[in-house]
Amino acid sequence: MSDSLPLLLRAARGESVERPPVWMMRQAGRYMKIYRDLRDRHPGFRERSENPDLSYEISMQPFKAFQPDGVILFSDILTPLPGMGIDFDIVESKGPLIQSPIRQIKQVKALNPLEPNHSMPFVGEVLGRLRESVGNQATVLGFVGAPWTLAAYVVEGKSSKNYAVIKAMAFQEPELLHQLLNHFAESIATYLRYQIDSGAQVVQMFDSWAGQLSPVDYDTFAAPYQKKVVELVKATHPETPIILYISGSAGVLERMAKTGVDIVSLDWTVDMAEGCSRLPKNIGVQGNVDPGLLFGTPEAIRSRIIDTVRKAQGRPHVLNLGHGILPGTPEDNARVFFEAGKNINELIKSTS
Ligand code: CP3
Repeated sequence: MSDSLPLLLRAARGESVERPPVWMMRQAGRYMKIYRDLRDRHPGFRERSENPDLSYEISMQPFKAFQPDGVILFSDILTPLPGMGIDFDIVESKGPLIQSPIRQIKQVKALNPLEPNHSMPFVGEVLGRLRESVGNQATVLGFVGAPWTLAAYVVEGKSSKNYAVIKAMAFQEPELLHQLLNHFAESIATYLRYQIDSGAQVVQMFDSWAGQLSPVDYDTFAAPYQKKVVELVKATHPETPIILYISGSAGVLERMAKTGVDIVSLDWTVDMAEGCSRLPKNIGVQGNVDPGLLFGTPEAIRSRIIDTVRKAQGRPHVLNLGHGILPGTPEDNARVFFEAGKNINELIKSTS
C-alpha cells in the first residue's frame, strides 16, 4: 500500500501528502561534532566514504540527531571515478584533487565503463543497511554527479574558480569533451541503477557547476548528458523519482525541467514563487532556503521556511537548503530547520 511508503518518496512521486518532507544537502558532515570526532579518528575522506561501516555510521549521524525525512548515502560525486580508471583524493582545506587530469583523447579511450558491483560494492552494502535501519521512517537517497560537473573536476584536476581548462577544451576540441561526457553519462546511469537496485528510493543528480555555462553552452555540454542519464535510468527504473540540482541555476530553470527529471532543486538566488511560475505544474521543487540563514535566529529560520513552503504550495515540494549546509553552522540551528519543517502545519496555522 502506498500509505506505508515513506513521506519523501510519496511526495517525490507527486502524491498529495500531509506536509512537505525535509532533508538537507550535506546533512552529514563537518558542522556536526560527532562527524568531526570520527574524522579525527579516520582522517582520510576516501576511507570514511569507502569503508562501509564508516559510511553507514556517518549516513546515520544526522538521522539519529534530527530524524530528517531523507537519509542520504555518505559518499561523494567523485567516488565512482577510480572504477573508471581515474584516481582522486580529497585534501583537507583544498578539496578534490585528480592526480592525472584528463586532457587527451587517448586518456578518454582508456577509461573503463563503470561496473559498480566490482569497483564499489561498499555503496550497495551501505544502501541496503540504511534501508534496513530506517524502514519507513525515512526515505533513502542515492546520488551522483552529472557528466558536466564530473568532467569539470577531471579536466581541471581540482576545484576551479573560472573553469578555464574545461572551457578551453569545450571551445577548441568539443569532440574530445563530448566523448568524455558520453562516457560519464553511460557510467553514471549504470551507477544510478545499481544504487536503486541496492536500496536507494529517490536519487539526486548534482550538476553543481552547470550554472557556470551560458544557456547556449548548457544546451550543448550539460543538458544532453543529464537527459541521457535520466532516459537510461527511467527506461529500467521508471518508478524512482529523480531530482536535479544545479548551483547558480536561475538562468536555466526552464531547461532543467525539460531533462525529464521529477524535481528541480533551486538555489536561493531565485524567489520560490517566481521559480515555480517558470516550471510546468507537474514538476516538483526542492531547496531554495539560503544555507546562510542557518547562521541566523530561530525566528528568522522559521519565518523563511514558512515563506518558502507557502510559495511552493500546489506542487510537489521537498523542503531543503539551496546548497549544502555550511561548515560552522550551529547544530542547534540545523535542529530548528528540521523541527520547523516537521511542524510546518502548526507553524503556518499559528501565523495566519
Ligand atoms: O549530502 C550528504 O550529506 C552526502 C554527502 C556528500 C558529500 N559530497 C560528502 C563530502 C555529497 C552529496 C557530496 C556531493 C558533492 N561532492 C558535490 C555536489 C554537491 C555540491 O556541493 O555542489 C560536489 C561538487 C562534490 C565535490 C567535493 N567533495 C567538494 C567540492 C568537496 C569539498 C571540499 C572541502 O573541503 O570543502 C568535497 C569533499 C566532501 N564531500 C566533504 C563532504 C562531507 C568535506 C570533506 C570532509 O568532510 O572531510
